[in-house]
Amino acid sequence: MFNDSIRPRRLRTSDGLRRMVRETRLSPESLIWPIFVQEGEGIYEEIPSLPGQYHYSPDQLYRMVEQAHMHGVSRVILFGLPKNKDEIGSGAWAEDGIVQQGIRKIKELAPEMYVITDVCMCEYTSHGHCGILCGDYVDNDQTIARIAQIAVSHAKAGADMVAPSDMMDGRVAAIRQALDEAGFVNVPIMSYAAKYASSFYGPFRDAAGSAPAFGDRRSYQMDWHNSREAMRECALDVQEGADILMIKPAMSYLDLVYQCKQRFELPVAAYAVSGEYAMIKAAAKAGLIDEYGVMCESAVSIFRAGADILITYYACELADAIRKGDIG
Ligand code: PBG
Repeated sequence: MFNDSIRPRRLRTSDGLRRMVRETRLSPESLIWPIFVQEGEGIYEEIPSLPGQYHYSPDQLYRMVEQAHMHGVSRVILFGLPKNKDEIGSGAWAEDGIVQQGIRKIKELAPEMYVITDVCMCEYTSHGHCGILCGDYVDNDQTIARIAQIAVSHAKAGADMVAPSDMMDGRVAAIRQALDEAGFVNVPIMSYAAKYASSFYGPFRDAAGSAPAFGDRRSYQMDWHNSREAMRECALDVQEGADILMIKPAMSYLDLVYQCKQRFELPVAAYAVSGEYAMIKAAAKAGLIDEYGVMCESAVSIFRAGADILITYYACELADAIRKGDIG
């Protein structure tokens, strides 16, 4: 039975009205842009698997800083591509390692830019796994000692926040203790709390040269059949002292973003990963979808699910869309 005095369409009659009653508000301040820093000089190369994203050697980072500034993006997360790799990934905690160089360079160019670092070993190990191997198995406790060392070396180089993405047990506690002992009590940890063993990371692994040489990451990253386990991971990271909880990937995991927001008091971040970006790019290039529309809609859906922060390769374009009022 139609009660004709109740008409939801009434609030959709004009653009101004629709904007007034929007339930989800976005800000460029909640966007984080992933950046790939490559060891070397004069490198500013588009990444084939991530059209529109670049590899920057430290001397070229001024281009990134200019672009970020132009779009009003002031938060980045750094990934490193070292020249040399070894069995234990020692480049990851080297004082003059590539991420450490990148942090110093950005801070020199733009001290106000908020620099977060991805703390992991897969870009630095010859075998491409996210830790220290014992046979074919990534040894948890040896790895977390190294992960803590990497986080401290990033903080020493000037990182504002660290984000461990290795998925070892106990790494948040190990990092917190190491940072505190080194005097970095105010460097927050954004934990990749629920990170799944996802095929959506494919383009990133090409971009970062970090695909595992054998096997896969399923003995440390999560099985995507599970959601209760994700809440367990989040709860553990809360206990261990995480400051922000991240769900990764984002689009196929909005149930977890939602649950995480309901269950915990910490800010929730979501990572719209390389495959999500590359799929939109490819479908748009094939003439199948409108890139701008799909970019906007998918970002809003992640915030609508409960994310407070979005890590996205579209950070610059989304900041523009927000400022124009197309979203948020
Ligand atoms: C490193 C790391 C990965 C991503 C972020 N940190 C790759 C992986 O776990 O294999 C993926 C990011 C993306 O796909 O955009 N462990």
